[in-house]
Amino acid sequence: MASMASAGSSSGSGPGSGRFPAGGNAFPHPSLTGIAQLERHEILYILAEAEQWVEFNRQPDKHCDLLSGLTIINAFFENSTRTLLSFEIAGKRLGADVVNMHAAQSSVKKGETLLDTAITLNAMRADAIVIRHGSSGAVDLIDGKVDCPVLNAGDGSHEHPTQALLDALALRHALDERGEGAEDFTGLVVTICGDIAHSRVARSNILCLQALGASVRVCAPPALMPAGIEMMGARPFVDFDAALEGSDVVMMLRLQAERMSGQFIPSTREYHHLYGLTKERLDRAAPDALVMHPGPMNRGVEIDSDVADMLDRSIITRQVEMGVAVRMACLDVLTRRARMLPGWEGPLGTGQWT
Ligand code: CP
Repeated sequence: MASMASAGSSSGSGPGSGRFPAGGNAFPHPSLTGIAQLERHEILYILAEAEQWVEFNRQPDKHCDLLSGLTIINAFFENSTRTLLSFEIAGKRLGADVVNMHAAQSSVKKGETLLDTAITLNAMRADAIVIRHGSSGAVDLIDGKVDCPVLNAGDGSHEHPTQALLDALALRHALDERGEGAEDFTGLVVTICGDIAHSRVARSNILCLQALGASVRVCAPPALMPAGIEMMGARPFVDFDAALEGSDVVMMLRLQAERMSGQFIPSTREYHHLYGLTKERLDRAAPDALVMHPGPMNRGVEIDSDVADMLDRSIITRQVEMGVAVRMACLDVLTRRARMLPGWEGPLGTGQWT
C-alpha cells in the first residue's frame, strides 16, 4: 500500500482545523446530485479533501484500503470516457470493489425503468451508485429511493457536479503554479463558450465558479443560449470576441448534437468561424489567459489544435488528472457515514457550523 499520511481523515482541512464545520457538518449531504445543493464551504471542503489525492495519485503505488469491502456501482446510461474511467480508477485506488453497468448490455434494453434498475442495484447492497443518464433530473429521481449515496455523473442538460469540482481544482492548481493562487477565484473573469443551452457542464460551472467568487460570462449563438441565463448570474454574449476581452479563463464546450432536435447552427464551418477558439482569437483575452475544455473535444470546430495543445495555456489534460482526485474525495466523503468515521455518525442534514 502506498504511504498515505491523511487518507480518509480530514487532517489539515476538516474537523478541528477551523476552516470548515466539524465532522459530518462539513459535508452533510447523503448524495451529490448537483452543485446547486452545495454551500460555498462545502465546495471548498471537497476541493481541500481532493488535494491529498492529487499527491497520492502522483506516487508510483496508487492503492490504499480506505474503502476496502465497499461496492461501488457505476451505472452509465450514456457514453463516457473520462467520467466513467475516473470514477472506476478512483474507487479502485481507494480499495473498493467497482462494478460498471453499461446500459447497452443491461436489462434497460428489455424495458426496465431507471427506478427499477436502481432498486435492483440497491438490493445487491451497493455502497454507492454513480449514475450518468440522458434525462435531466434522473439522478434526483433515484436519490432517496436507495439506501446508499448517489453521485451524479451527468444528467441530461442539468448538472455534472464532479466536472465543475475538478475544473475548479485544475484552475486552482494552474493559478498556484503561476504564483496567482488563492483559495477562491475572487476577481477572476471566466468565459464559457459553446452550446450553453444543452450543457450540464455550463450549468454546474456557472454555479461553482460564482460560488467561489469568479465573474462568469457565457457566449453562444442565440439558438444555443438558454432564455433567462442572467437569472443564474452569468453575463451573456453573442459576440465571442467581445466576451473574450479581459477574460482570464476561456472554457470551451462542444456542440451537444445528441441533445439537439433540429438545426441549431447553419454549419460547423460557420460555427467555427464565429465561435471557434483560434490562436488569433485567444489574443483578445487577457495576457496568458488559461484554456479549458471538459472533453470530448471536437478539434477544428469549437477549438483549434494549436490552442488545445498549448503547453503554457491549455489545462485540458490537468482537468482530466484532477478528475480522479476529485472523484476519490467524493467517494471517500460520501461513504464516511456508512463507515461510521468518528464525527460522521450523526444525523444528516443539520448543516450547522460549529
Ligand atoms: N467531461 C466528460 O464528462 O467527459 P466524458 O463524457 O468522456 O465522461
